Amino acid sequence: MFNPRKYAFGLVNCILKNGGNIYENTKATNIKFKSGFYYITANGRTIKSKYVVLATHFPIKNFPGMYFLKMYQDISYVIAVKTKSKVFDGYYVNESSPNISFRNVYEKNGENVVLISGNGHKVGRAISDKDSYKFLEDIAKKLFGNYELLNKWSTQDCISLDKLPYIGNFSKILPNIYVATGFKKWGMTLSNVSANIIADKILGIENKYEYLFKPSRIDALKNSKAFGEQMKETVYSIALNKFKIPKETIKDIKKDSGKIVMFNGKKVGIYKDTAGYCYMVKPICTHLKCELQFNQNDKTWDCPCHGSRFNYKGQVINNPAVFDLRKL
Ligand code: FES
Repeated sequence: MFNPRKYAFGLVNCILKNGGNIYENTKATNIKFKSGFYYITANGRTIKSKYVVLATHFPIKNFPGMYFLKMYQDISYVIAVKTKSKVFDGYYVNESSPNISFRNVYEKNGENVVLISGNGHKVGRAISDKDSYKFLEDIAKKLFGNYELLNKWSTQDCISLDKLPYIGNFSKILPNIYVATGFKKWGMTLSNVSANIIADKILGIENKYEYLFKPSRIDALKNSKAFGEQMKETVYSIALNKFKIPKETIKDIKKDSGKIVMFNGKKVGIYKDTAGYCYMVKPICTHLKCELQFNQNDKTWDCPCHGSRFNYKGQVINNPAVFDLRKL
């Protein structure tokens, strides 16, 4: 167990000390290959580069590679609680379902801060009347009695069909572009593995672990059950769902919740806030046009196809989508 924030600062300092630069708030939205170089569109400008590492969580480039056919995303919920009770030391994860993990953060003046996380599901499959955070709070209550809720949030990760990450060449037909994804929530470890393999590839050094994670392996697709489910979800959400006409109207939406309803003869996604103000969006994902579902836990629009997420105002908060929803 280590402090990831301190660790990230260590990496940042190392990059800066060695003459590297880090650009925040620079969102890549497109990548094109021409005459041996990549041209990356970011914030309306173009960056030219010989090498590209797609460490964008879900790759933002759809073709070639087609990672959207061989990966899905799972969401986990997290709460941070403060308690005066005695807590465990370390980091634990259960092996039954739903998966829950526990980690103590610090102890100060007899008070402990603990993270409880898990209770996840595939993105876009939130059950509307199930409060995932309350489930975690019930565990906190059972373990510690009295506690103070400090914060809550959700996070998600990509999972390949054979559960191993994709690390290495993004595609056989494009040179010098690499991918690191599908960490299945083991990103602290696998990001280091990826960094070593991809750095070696760029420097032309053989890496004996590379073959294990080759993105072009076909074993991932041999998991036909997972592949079939992925295809079914995509077809259903891209095509079939769109013909469904919702029976409900704007009046049927309770305060602080959201739904897809008919409004002025059109299907719209509406979130009604606690004051009754409505935020309307076109509920179609800007990645490959699947129909979105409302996630009541976080008040977000989630995509069941490949896991993009948008806040209720329509801003994209998780890729592979890179563009916001249309506001209505
Ligand atoms: S994430 Fe691919 S269609 Fe929504």
